Amino acid sequence: MNDLSALPADFVWGAATAAYQIEGAVDEDGRAPSIWDTFSHTPGKVAGGDTGDVACDHYHRVPEDLELMKALGLDSYRFSIAWPRIVPQGSGAVNAAGLAFYDRLVDSLLEAGISPNATLYHWDLPQAQQDRGGWPERETAERFGEYAAVVADALGDRVKDWATLNEPLCSAWIGHLEGTMAPGWTDLTAAVRASFHLHLGHGLAVQALRAAHSDLRIGIVNNLSPIEAATERDADVAAARRADGHTNRWWLDPIHGRGYPQDMVELYGVDLPVKDGDMELIAAPLDWLGLNYYFPQTVVDDPTGPAPYAKMAYLPGLRRTAMDWEVNSDGLETLLVRLSEEYGARKIFVTENGSAYPDTVGPDGQVDDPERVQYLEEHLAACARAVKRGVPLAGYYAWSLMDNFEWAYGYDKRFGLVHVDYATQVRTVKGSGRRYADIIAAHRRRVRRAA
Ligand code: IFM
Repeated sequence: MNDLSALPADFVWGAATAAYQIEGAVDEDGRAPSIWDTFSHTPGKVAGGDTGDVACDHYHRVPEDLELMKALGLDSYRFSIAWPRIVPQGSGAVNAAGLAFYDRLVDSLLEAGISPNATLYHWDLPQAQQDRGGWPERETAERFGEYAAVVADALGDRVKDWATLNEPLCSAWIGHLEGTMAPGWTDLTAAVRASFHLHLGHGLAVQALRAAHSDLRIGIVNNLSPIEAATERDADVAAARRADGHTNRWWLDPIHGRGYPQDMVELYGVDLPVKDGDMELIAAPLDWLGLNYYFPQTVVDDPTGPAPYAKMAYLPGLRRTAMDWEVNSDGLETLLVRLSEEYGARKIFVTENGSAYPDTVGPDGQVDDPERVQYLEEHLAACARAVKRGVPLAGYYAWSLMDNFEWAYGYDKRFGLVHVDYATQVRTVKGSGRRYADIIAAHRRRVRRAA
């Protein structure tokens, strides 16, 4: 095992999930449909016709899932709150039963000594809000700010760590440009407008959270990739620069007060509907940055493809997960150092990192997943290397606590530290879950010894 002794004594060990991926109970206690209910129920959109209707049935199994978190020894649990449970129509009436679910979850976590880290938006926009135009319209950002105020008011006395958005890149680019996530559009103008309103919604949510409680620690979660050109050809080098703008700089520059990168504004050629004060709101100071890291990108020029006219080159001979994503822990170190050195981050969490493999339950009832164990160890070692290089890394959340609904891939792709048998809802801690528990315990022993 690689040396993790550089990780700080108060390093936060966590695991993450998201509402639509685990909760199920989509029409219970006043929840209304989200864009993901609509998308997953549209034939041909999700592998195997899978939907989140039942998922891991977490809505009815919080006590059991809490036992899993305790067994792993987690310090913190990162989950998302479903907007369509809280304000089912996107605006207007607040659903007390929806809030009550998260209220109970938070109390149970705190009782178990596990710190809640809540994300306000992990892609489940109320369908009614989509019907009023969705993220391409300013109104959605405003409604998001109002929803944030409701949640902050209800939970902010006990939940101190908050993320506004999870991976706005996916909402904007995959949901509105590539079309393989909800709402499934392929429209560059809508995508760019959505990206701006997601950022504006983030700013409004930060404002609402801070107004509700002055002691909250607020961040945003971006999925980023280090990007390289596949060759030294000028066209590929330029493509890599564009891909970096599309994947990284577009999402980091505005929240750091640098505005949108000019090269990308010109490339997209879409007017940003910015009003006075918006960019200041978007750049409101944060307490931490969340990094979701999965894979690096090596790209080539793609003049006929969609913006940013760059596509991933498929490099043979690399280790890959079941998602076909390259396994490369150096990429995590590179990004952590970039956030710290180029963007001056003062506190970073790895808010997601993990791998899918086709796990099965063996005849002995165990799930052995040595590739995921290796992935976990390598990426934690990259975290420790980054810390040694001065990166203020405060914690790591494994994606995911348990197997769940992997969006357009349905239930086929398993990312969990815990295996879920979807037919019976039986949970089995995988080898990687046991390994994670050992790593956490070893860290605590090291800290005790050093005290
Ligand atoms: O499952 C997703 C999660 O919802 C967002 N980040 C990436 C994960 C794996 O694809």
